[in-house]
Amino acid sequence: MTLPILSIIGSYLIGSISFSVLFAKWLRGIDIRQHGSGNAGATNTLRILGKGPAFCVLLLDALKGISAVLLGYLVSDASWVAVVCGIAAIAGHNWPIFFRFRGGKGIATTIGVLAVLAFWAALSASVFAILTIVWKRYVSLGSLVFAFLTPVFIWLYKYDSSIFLGSVLLCLFAFFAHRNNIVKLMKGTENRLGSSKGGEA
Ligand code: G3P
Repeated sequence: MTLPILSIIGSYLIGSISFSVLFAKWLRGIDIRQHGSGNAGATNTLRILGKGPAFCVLLLDALKGISAVLLGYLVSDASWVAVVCGIAAIAGHNWPIFFRFRGGKGIATTIGVLAVLAFWAALSASVFAILTIVWKRYVSLGSLVFAFLTPVFIWLYKYDSSIFLGSVLLCLFAFFAHRNNIVKLMKGTENRLGSSKGGEA
């Protein structure tokens, strides 16, 4: 039991490496959480630092989720360990121990986690999420579509029940993290992709 527990703690620590905070500090000497939407994630990095850094943050944040789940599979055959490692990485991203527990909304890390746990379901949900972003130009809406549809596809494709339960939990995480975005979407004041405003920090 020691190894699974260590892998879960390790996953939380991996998730706590907030790449958007680090890139903003290195490139501009600023705290990204004081700029744009105030979110420590790839979308806000795009607003504040531009495409190159945003792409790197997206990739590295997804890699945190991928490595956490692989770590879980490495230490145990039980898929719930990989699921909990993935959840721990996302918790680390959202509430990072290294950055005063103020992180992002966890979507890139969630994509990484679900890509390993349930590749075809995550890919199917991604298609709808990308279409939503292209159509509506709201990244937050696309993120919510991804978070909602992945458990639906996991259920349709009959994945392991621990993976299904984990994905439902991740969906709830995502909706909770996006609660302010949801209010703005309903009011019609959410930032569209390409808009320079970014909302209040
Ligand atoms: O994954 C975060 C994205 O869905 C929304 O980011 O900065 O617009 O709140 P932001």
